[in-house]
Amino acid sequence: MQAKSTPRSVVVLTGAGISAESGLKTFRDNNGLWENHPVEDVATPQAFAANPTLVHRFYNLRRAQLVNKAKPNTAHKVLADFEMSFRGDYTLITQNVDDLHERAGSKNVLHMHGELLKIRCAESGEIYSHQQDLDQNMSCPCCNKSGQLRPHIVWFGEIPLYMNDIESVLAQCDLFVSIGTSGNVYPAAGFQQLAKHYGAHTVELNLEPSMAASHFHEQHYGLASELVPEFFQTVLGNPL
Ligand code: APR
Repeated sequence: MQAKSTPRSVVVLTGAGISAESGLKTFRDNNGLWENHPVEDVATPQAFAANPTLVHRFYNLRRAQLVNKAKPNTAHKVLADFEMSFRGDYTLITQNVDDLHERAGSKNVLHMHGELLKIRCAESGEIYSHQQDLDQNMSCPCCNKSGQLRPHIVWFGEIPLYMNDIESVLAQCDLFVSIGTSGNVYPAAGFQQLAKHYGAHTVELNLEPSMAASHFHEQHYGLASELVPEFFQTVLGNPL
């Protein structure tokens, strides 16, 4: 595998594919359907307003799976080791709402689509850690009202988090690596173009070519647990 020599600033973007080998389903498995609902239809403010029970059930299932079953895999661990070993600037942006990067040891993770193990008050924006099921009857610790708590997830139609930080690191990085994302959802799907525009070498590591595959300078296809160790070893192997 090649990598641009001597990267000083590395940005990694991860998607659901990096957690697939940890037993978490990607979004576009099953043709993007969950119990016959397109996932996009369950992950919107409109869906939550119309049928909060359905939306809570969707996230309760995912939360339980994350807490009870999923464990970080080799790809998560390699990124955590890379953060420790790399002497340049490093930013990990994830579209994933799981905590597997943190459990593998990554310290600084930008969860641009929110976090499954957090909930928040729809009124005040107050955020709470939460590992159990959530429903409409649970009353909010800040306002004591029921029906106010929602998953701390960025739904379709809502603004992703940390966009200022993300834009500034993309403008400065000289290596951008996208791992396990299909490139269907903006703005993350546009990060490669932005990094490339500012002069970064861009690399795709995925099971199969993503929507934007041909725009990357370098592409490698296979399992994240195999591609990620191989690729990041090459980056560290270069003189920094
Ligand atoms: N290793 C590497 N890549 C994998 C693996 C694996 N073991 N398994 C699956 N993949 C790839 C798939 O081929 C696919 O291209 O991971 C990608 C996952 O794509 P999606 O399911 O579309 O997930 P993602 O790109 O993260 O979705 C983006 O969409 O629904 C929203 O907000 C949600 O953050 C999510 C966003």
